[in-house]
Amino acid sequence: MGGKSDIGLIGLAVMGQNLALNIESAGYQVAVYNRTPAITEEFMKERGVNRRLKPAYNLEEFVKVLELPRKIILMVKAGPPVDQVIEGLLPFLEEGDIIIDGGNSFYRDTERRARELKEKGIRFLGTGISGGEYGALYGPSIMPGGDESAYREVEEIFSKIAAQTPDGPCVSYLGGGPAGHYVKMVHNGIEYGVMELIAETYDLMRKGLGLSPAEMGEIFRKWNKEQQSYLLEITGEIMDREDPETGKPLIDLISDHASQKGTGKWTVQEALDLGVPVPTITAAVNARYLSAYKEMREEFYHLFKAAEGKKFLAGIDGERDLLKALEEGLFLATVIAYGEGMDLLQRASREYGYNLPLAEVARIWQDGCIIRSNLLKQIQRIYREKGETASIILSGEFSKEFAGRIGSLRWLVGLAAEAGIPLPAFSAALAYFDSLVAGELPANLIQAQRDYFGAHTYQRKDKEGTFHTEW
Ligand code: 6PG
Repeated sequence: MGGKSDIGLIGLAVMGQNLALNIESAGYQVAVYNRTPAITEEFMKERGVNRRLKPAYNLEEFVKVLELPRKIILMVKAGPPVDQVIEGLLPFLEEGDIIIDGGNSFYRDTERRARELKEKGIRFLGTGISGGEYGALYGPSIMPGGDESAYREVEEIFSKIAAQTPDGPCVSYLGGGPAGHYVKMVHNGIEYGVMELIAETYDLMRKGLGLSPAEMGEIFRKWNKEQQSYLLEITGEIMDREDPETGKPLIDLISDHASQKGTGKWTVQEALDLGVPVPTITAAVNARYLSAYKEMREEFYHLFKAAEGKKFLAGIDGERDLLKALEEGLFLATVIAYGEGMDLLQRASREYGYNLPLAEVARIWQDGCIIRSNLLKQIQRIYREKGETASIILSGEFSKEFAGRIGSLRWLVGLAAEAGIPLPAFSAALAYFDSLVAGELPANLIQAQRDYFGAHTYQRKDKEGTFHTEW
């Protein structure tokens, strides 16, 4: 195949392969490279036939076939591999060339890389890409940040390959430095929160109501008609899947410890650093850690088994009401998880000067990404109508939902506590909401205690100033 390639892509794991094919389908010639040549060969043989893809087997050759300024997307594992690839590329690049890191890189790494590359005249875009394998192939949500002039060079390609909505393609320039990867990190934090809330809903339905996966599948599907949440949608499908070997619901055969690659943890660490409470997301990260305590949990289970297995449905208000409460409670807690993430973005934007366009963030999450849902339309509307410092939870349309439905969330958390079914994320979401609307919190006592043991002083309600008491 002749001519120079419009863009190059390094890293041919599934996400990289799919993204390369997506770009090619949008009408571009794509040069591809993978460190292990056999993977490139296999990709070309299996998926690259009759496509405008140009395989390269060393970095020099790869760089040479690219149109100027060169645009190179890295789809390699976050961490040191990104630095290694950049180092390998540098000797062959020229001033003005563009490197786009499309992985889940930690935003501080992106910040450092942007700085180092700028000194070398290379333009860098830290770009979050969400949507899993399917999204990469058919239209992801793309969250670019970094050198704006570089973004303008790839804007057309990104706009064509992103998920498309009536509001435009799911891509927008999010700001300088690591803004794109920061937004992707928080996207994943919200992803953790929503996944955990759905998992807790499932737990309540199976343990509290004794529902089968097939029954739950139907319920999730019904709820999702209104919410159009990708995570709810796939949960419905997961519930329906049978294990081909045993004929049993596959979900019943999957063990209950989940791992993680770190983006949820970073969100929580970052929130702690900035002093932004994200309790629902934090509970979700902790729940994954707890799930990994498999052996210890088994020991405890055998010790305390007596508490387990109470179907709380029996004798109370009936299955239908409980399902209604679950639907409402899940909705509110989900809004809280999004709200926590958006709050963190607001604070980071101010603190780090990213100037994040939050309505745009909500818009580009509307499709393609893992947390896509109708909720994002409402969030976008809130920001556009009330300004980007508005609180999602307490603003406009959601505040009415909270006023009308908070009783459901409260009821569920209470029932589950009595039945011994852990709802860490639901409970955290409820406590967060209650703290926000409490008026008085007991932090007066915290002030007094600090002053008692450490003379840390306190403020009073009735007069200005700083006070200390000899307790
Ligand atoms: C996405 C996902 C994707 C991936 C997470 C999984 O937006 O497409 O967030 O990036 O699924 O990295 O993260 P954990 O392994 O930490 O669950």
